[in-house]
Amino acid sequence: AVLVGRRVRSRGKWERMLRVLKELEEGCDTPVWRLKQVVDAVAVEMHAGLASEGGSKIRMLLTFVDNLPSGKEKGTYYALDLGGTYFRVMQVQLGGHRSSILAHEVERYPIPEHLLISRSEGLFDFIASVFKQFVERNKNGYECSLDKRRDLGFTFSFPVKQTTVSSGILMKWTKGFAIEDMVGREVAECLQEALIKKGINIRVAALVNDTVGTLALGHYHDADTVAAVVFGTGTNACYLERTDAIIKCQGLLTTSGCMVVNMEWGNFWSSHLPRTMYDVELDADSPNPNYQGFEKMISGMYLGEIVRRIILRMSLESDFFGTISSKLSTPFILRTPLMAALCEDNSPDLVEVARVLKDILEVPDVPLKVRKLLVDVCDVVTRRAARLAAAGIVGILKKIGRDGNGGIASGRRSRDDTKMRTVVAVEGSLYTNYLMFRDYLNEAVVEILGEEVAQHVTLKVMDDGSGIGAALVVASNSLRES
Ligand code: GLC
Repeated sequence: AVLVGRRVRSRGKWERMLRVLKELEEGCDTPVWRLKQVVDAVAVEMHAGLASEGGSKIRMLLTFVDNLPSGKEKGTYYALDLGGTYFRVMQVQLGGHRSSILAHEVERYPIPEHLLISRSEGLFDFIASVFKQFVERNKNGYECSLDKRRDLGFTFSFPVKQTTVSSGILMKWTKGFAIEDMVGREVAECLQEALIKKGINIRVAALVNDTVGTLALGHYHDADTVAAVVFGTGTNACYLERTDAIIKCQGLLTTSGCMVVNMEWGNFWSSHLPRTMYDVELDADSPNPNYQGFEKMISGMYLGEIVRRIILRMSLESDFFGTISSKLSTPFILRTPLMAALCEDNSPDLVEVARVLKDILEVPDVPLKVRKLLVDVCDVVTRRAARLAAAGIVGILKKIGRDGNGGIASGRRSRDDTKMRTVVAVEGSLYTNYLMFRDYLNEAVVEILGEEVAQHVTLKVMDDGSGIGAALVVASNSLRES
């Protein structure tokens, strides 16, 4: 009788685990009809964000980038890239014709964690000294000596209210950065001052979002590139818009009649998004509750954390995990690359899953069937993220009339627009390093658009696009000034 009782209890706890998974699957469900609702909502919000300041949760920020690189850019430029897990410094040599990047040196540095939450001076001093060391090590390009003044592109991947292509104020931090004295300040000026203090004679000639850099590099290689998306620590998109469609800025004149708009889509929200209790709790515990809702379901900073919360819930529902380790209760301990490793563990015994559970979460051996269940959890979370990301991309295509329906405000567009080749540049380690995310995303784009339209749409990876693109924006502006 005792044995039977135990078996019943153990079946009970297994069934409770299955129930958690089933509820998760239902809560994260993204059938194509729902994705299409998200597509429509994105396109509608884009219109609202262009119509008036604060008209939508999608900010639709002006970038003052009105000409994308053509290929004629020439010379050697530096770029600094801040906004993800790493800070990057690079030097780019441009040859003067399309796709002629002769060389580019990149160095990446982890940002000391205390700098993310201290004062702005600390962060910019760190940036300036890293840059100085880089310049000293790479003297083959050119020197930023006092007699020769050079130009630099600064990729700063946060919402910035720009006033020119090289200036703007930080509106709000995202992605775990929280340096309060920076909010409302001129970003390029802070960098410029720190560089001067270090005796570096270089002008911050462009201030760009990472999506804008990615679009610039995409366009440099392929003139059909009209939009760019980033799936990294955070997520965001930008695209080329006609200035007359930017209603909130009437009278905005550019030579091309267009301007790149930084959407800041991480803050997109819609009741059509499939939200679970884990998302609600993650948001409530985050430093920016009620902000970046779309980003919190999609990007690298959060996917691992969502999974950790689900595993914690499972461990409370059953004793498969032993006594709950303090690690399992530690926010953000399960980083997304580890989560990806769980999801992509193809070994029959799921040894990688066992290793991560043991080494990272301090959960001792769990039965194979439980490990399999955890792989399913990672799969559900990844699939939802990738499919929502795909809906975001199609939302942009819809807005610009490249979704096969001529767009929602298609007055002036012919239906043939949809047959035009459309390239979307993509950057970010979630897409480039996590095959499963990429496959789910690409598959969903085809599902939403249908094969016939999707065959004209290409997603192209732009490695280091955010930084190289900033250098290209500087180069392309100086070409126009000369
Ligand atoms: C966050 C930032 C945004 C950036 C994105 C990707 O969403 O607010 O500016 O582009 O992360 O790095």
